[in-house]
Amino acid sequence: MVLNFVGTGNLTRFFLECLKDRYELGYILSRNIERSINITEIYGGKPATLENHPLLCGVVFIIVPDRYIESVAKILKVKDGVLVHCSGFLASDVLRREKRASLHPNFSFSNLEKALKMKDQIVFGIEGDEEGIHVAVEIAKAISGKYIVIPPEKKKAYHLAAVVASNFPVALAYLSKRIYSSMGVEDPDHLISTLMQGVVESIGEMSVERALTGPVRRGDWEVVRVEREVFKKIFGSALIYDEIVEVLKEVTKGERAKDKEDER
Ligand SMILES: NC(=O)c1ccc[n+]([C@@H]2O[C@H](COP(=O)([O-])OP(=O)(O)OC[C@H]3O[C@@H](n4cnc5c(N)ncnc54)[C@H](OP(=O)(O)O)[C@@H]3O)[C@@H](O)[C@H]2O)c1
Repeated sequence: MVLNFVGTGNLTRFFLECLKDRYELGYILSRNIERSINITEIYGGKPATLENHPLLCGVVFIIVPDRYIESVAKILKVKDGVLVHCSGFLASDVLRREKRASLHPNFSFSNLEKALKMKDQIVFGIEGDEEGIHVAVEIAKAISGKYIVIPPEKKKAYHLAAVVASNFPVALAYLSKRIYSSMGVEDPDHLISTLMQGVVESIGEMSVERALTGPVRRGDWEVVRVEREVFKKIFGSALIYDEIVEVLKEVTKGERAKDKEDER
């Protein structure tokens, strides 16, 4: 299988690091020939530009920002190959051809070294037609062996789950930081990171339901009430607080149901 890439960002580099010794590399296309030459000097493959490239054979990864995937796919010259993009949100039909897939790594590639260190744990979300899924599964197996196949109509919900798990905690960390900072705590980022790391590890080792501790889990309703007032004073509204407490009550119910299951 020959692999070609469009785009020279961190995710392209991640795939190249993981796959360069297993597969033949074709072309690595960039909008800029210098960037293409630079990356092929590191990983192998042949340089070319998006505007001016020969007919591509094999698998072509389009790893560009989501809003450009469709227009890039339109101008690519591909001979009987399989097109793959990496968006978690868009389905592969945006590629407007047969032999297509989306292969979405559930990870943030802002830090390439970290991604490579954790590559065995990365779960890929795969969607596509028969040929596309076949290729995407092979690539996922070559990197971590962990993947889920998603029906195209479920891609938006799938992406939402990833946004909730990876972006929403940052919003909560920010609220927490505002409270710590208002008290003059030094280096609140470190404190919050340690707290959150413990929770994240418990989720992986046990489950979401079992990772929950704190006043809602214990049923300390007086603490919940008093802290609601403090929250409202700091942020001007207790809307988020109330919503989250309701979710935490649901989590607690889920945990009790799990306990009952274990007792049986
Ligand atoms: N970054 C992540 O953590 C992550 C995680 C999971 C999935 N993804 C998916 O990976 C894909 C790339 O996202 P990204 O955030 O990594 O993108 P990015 O780093 O902003 O861009 C990737 C590459 O796309 C090329 N590019 C930029 N604008 C372009 C344009 N207008 N036309 C054609 N090519 C263009 C550039 O390469 P040249 O300058 O060489 O042309 C750039 O290095 C997206 O589908 C995204 O959903 C990203």
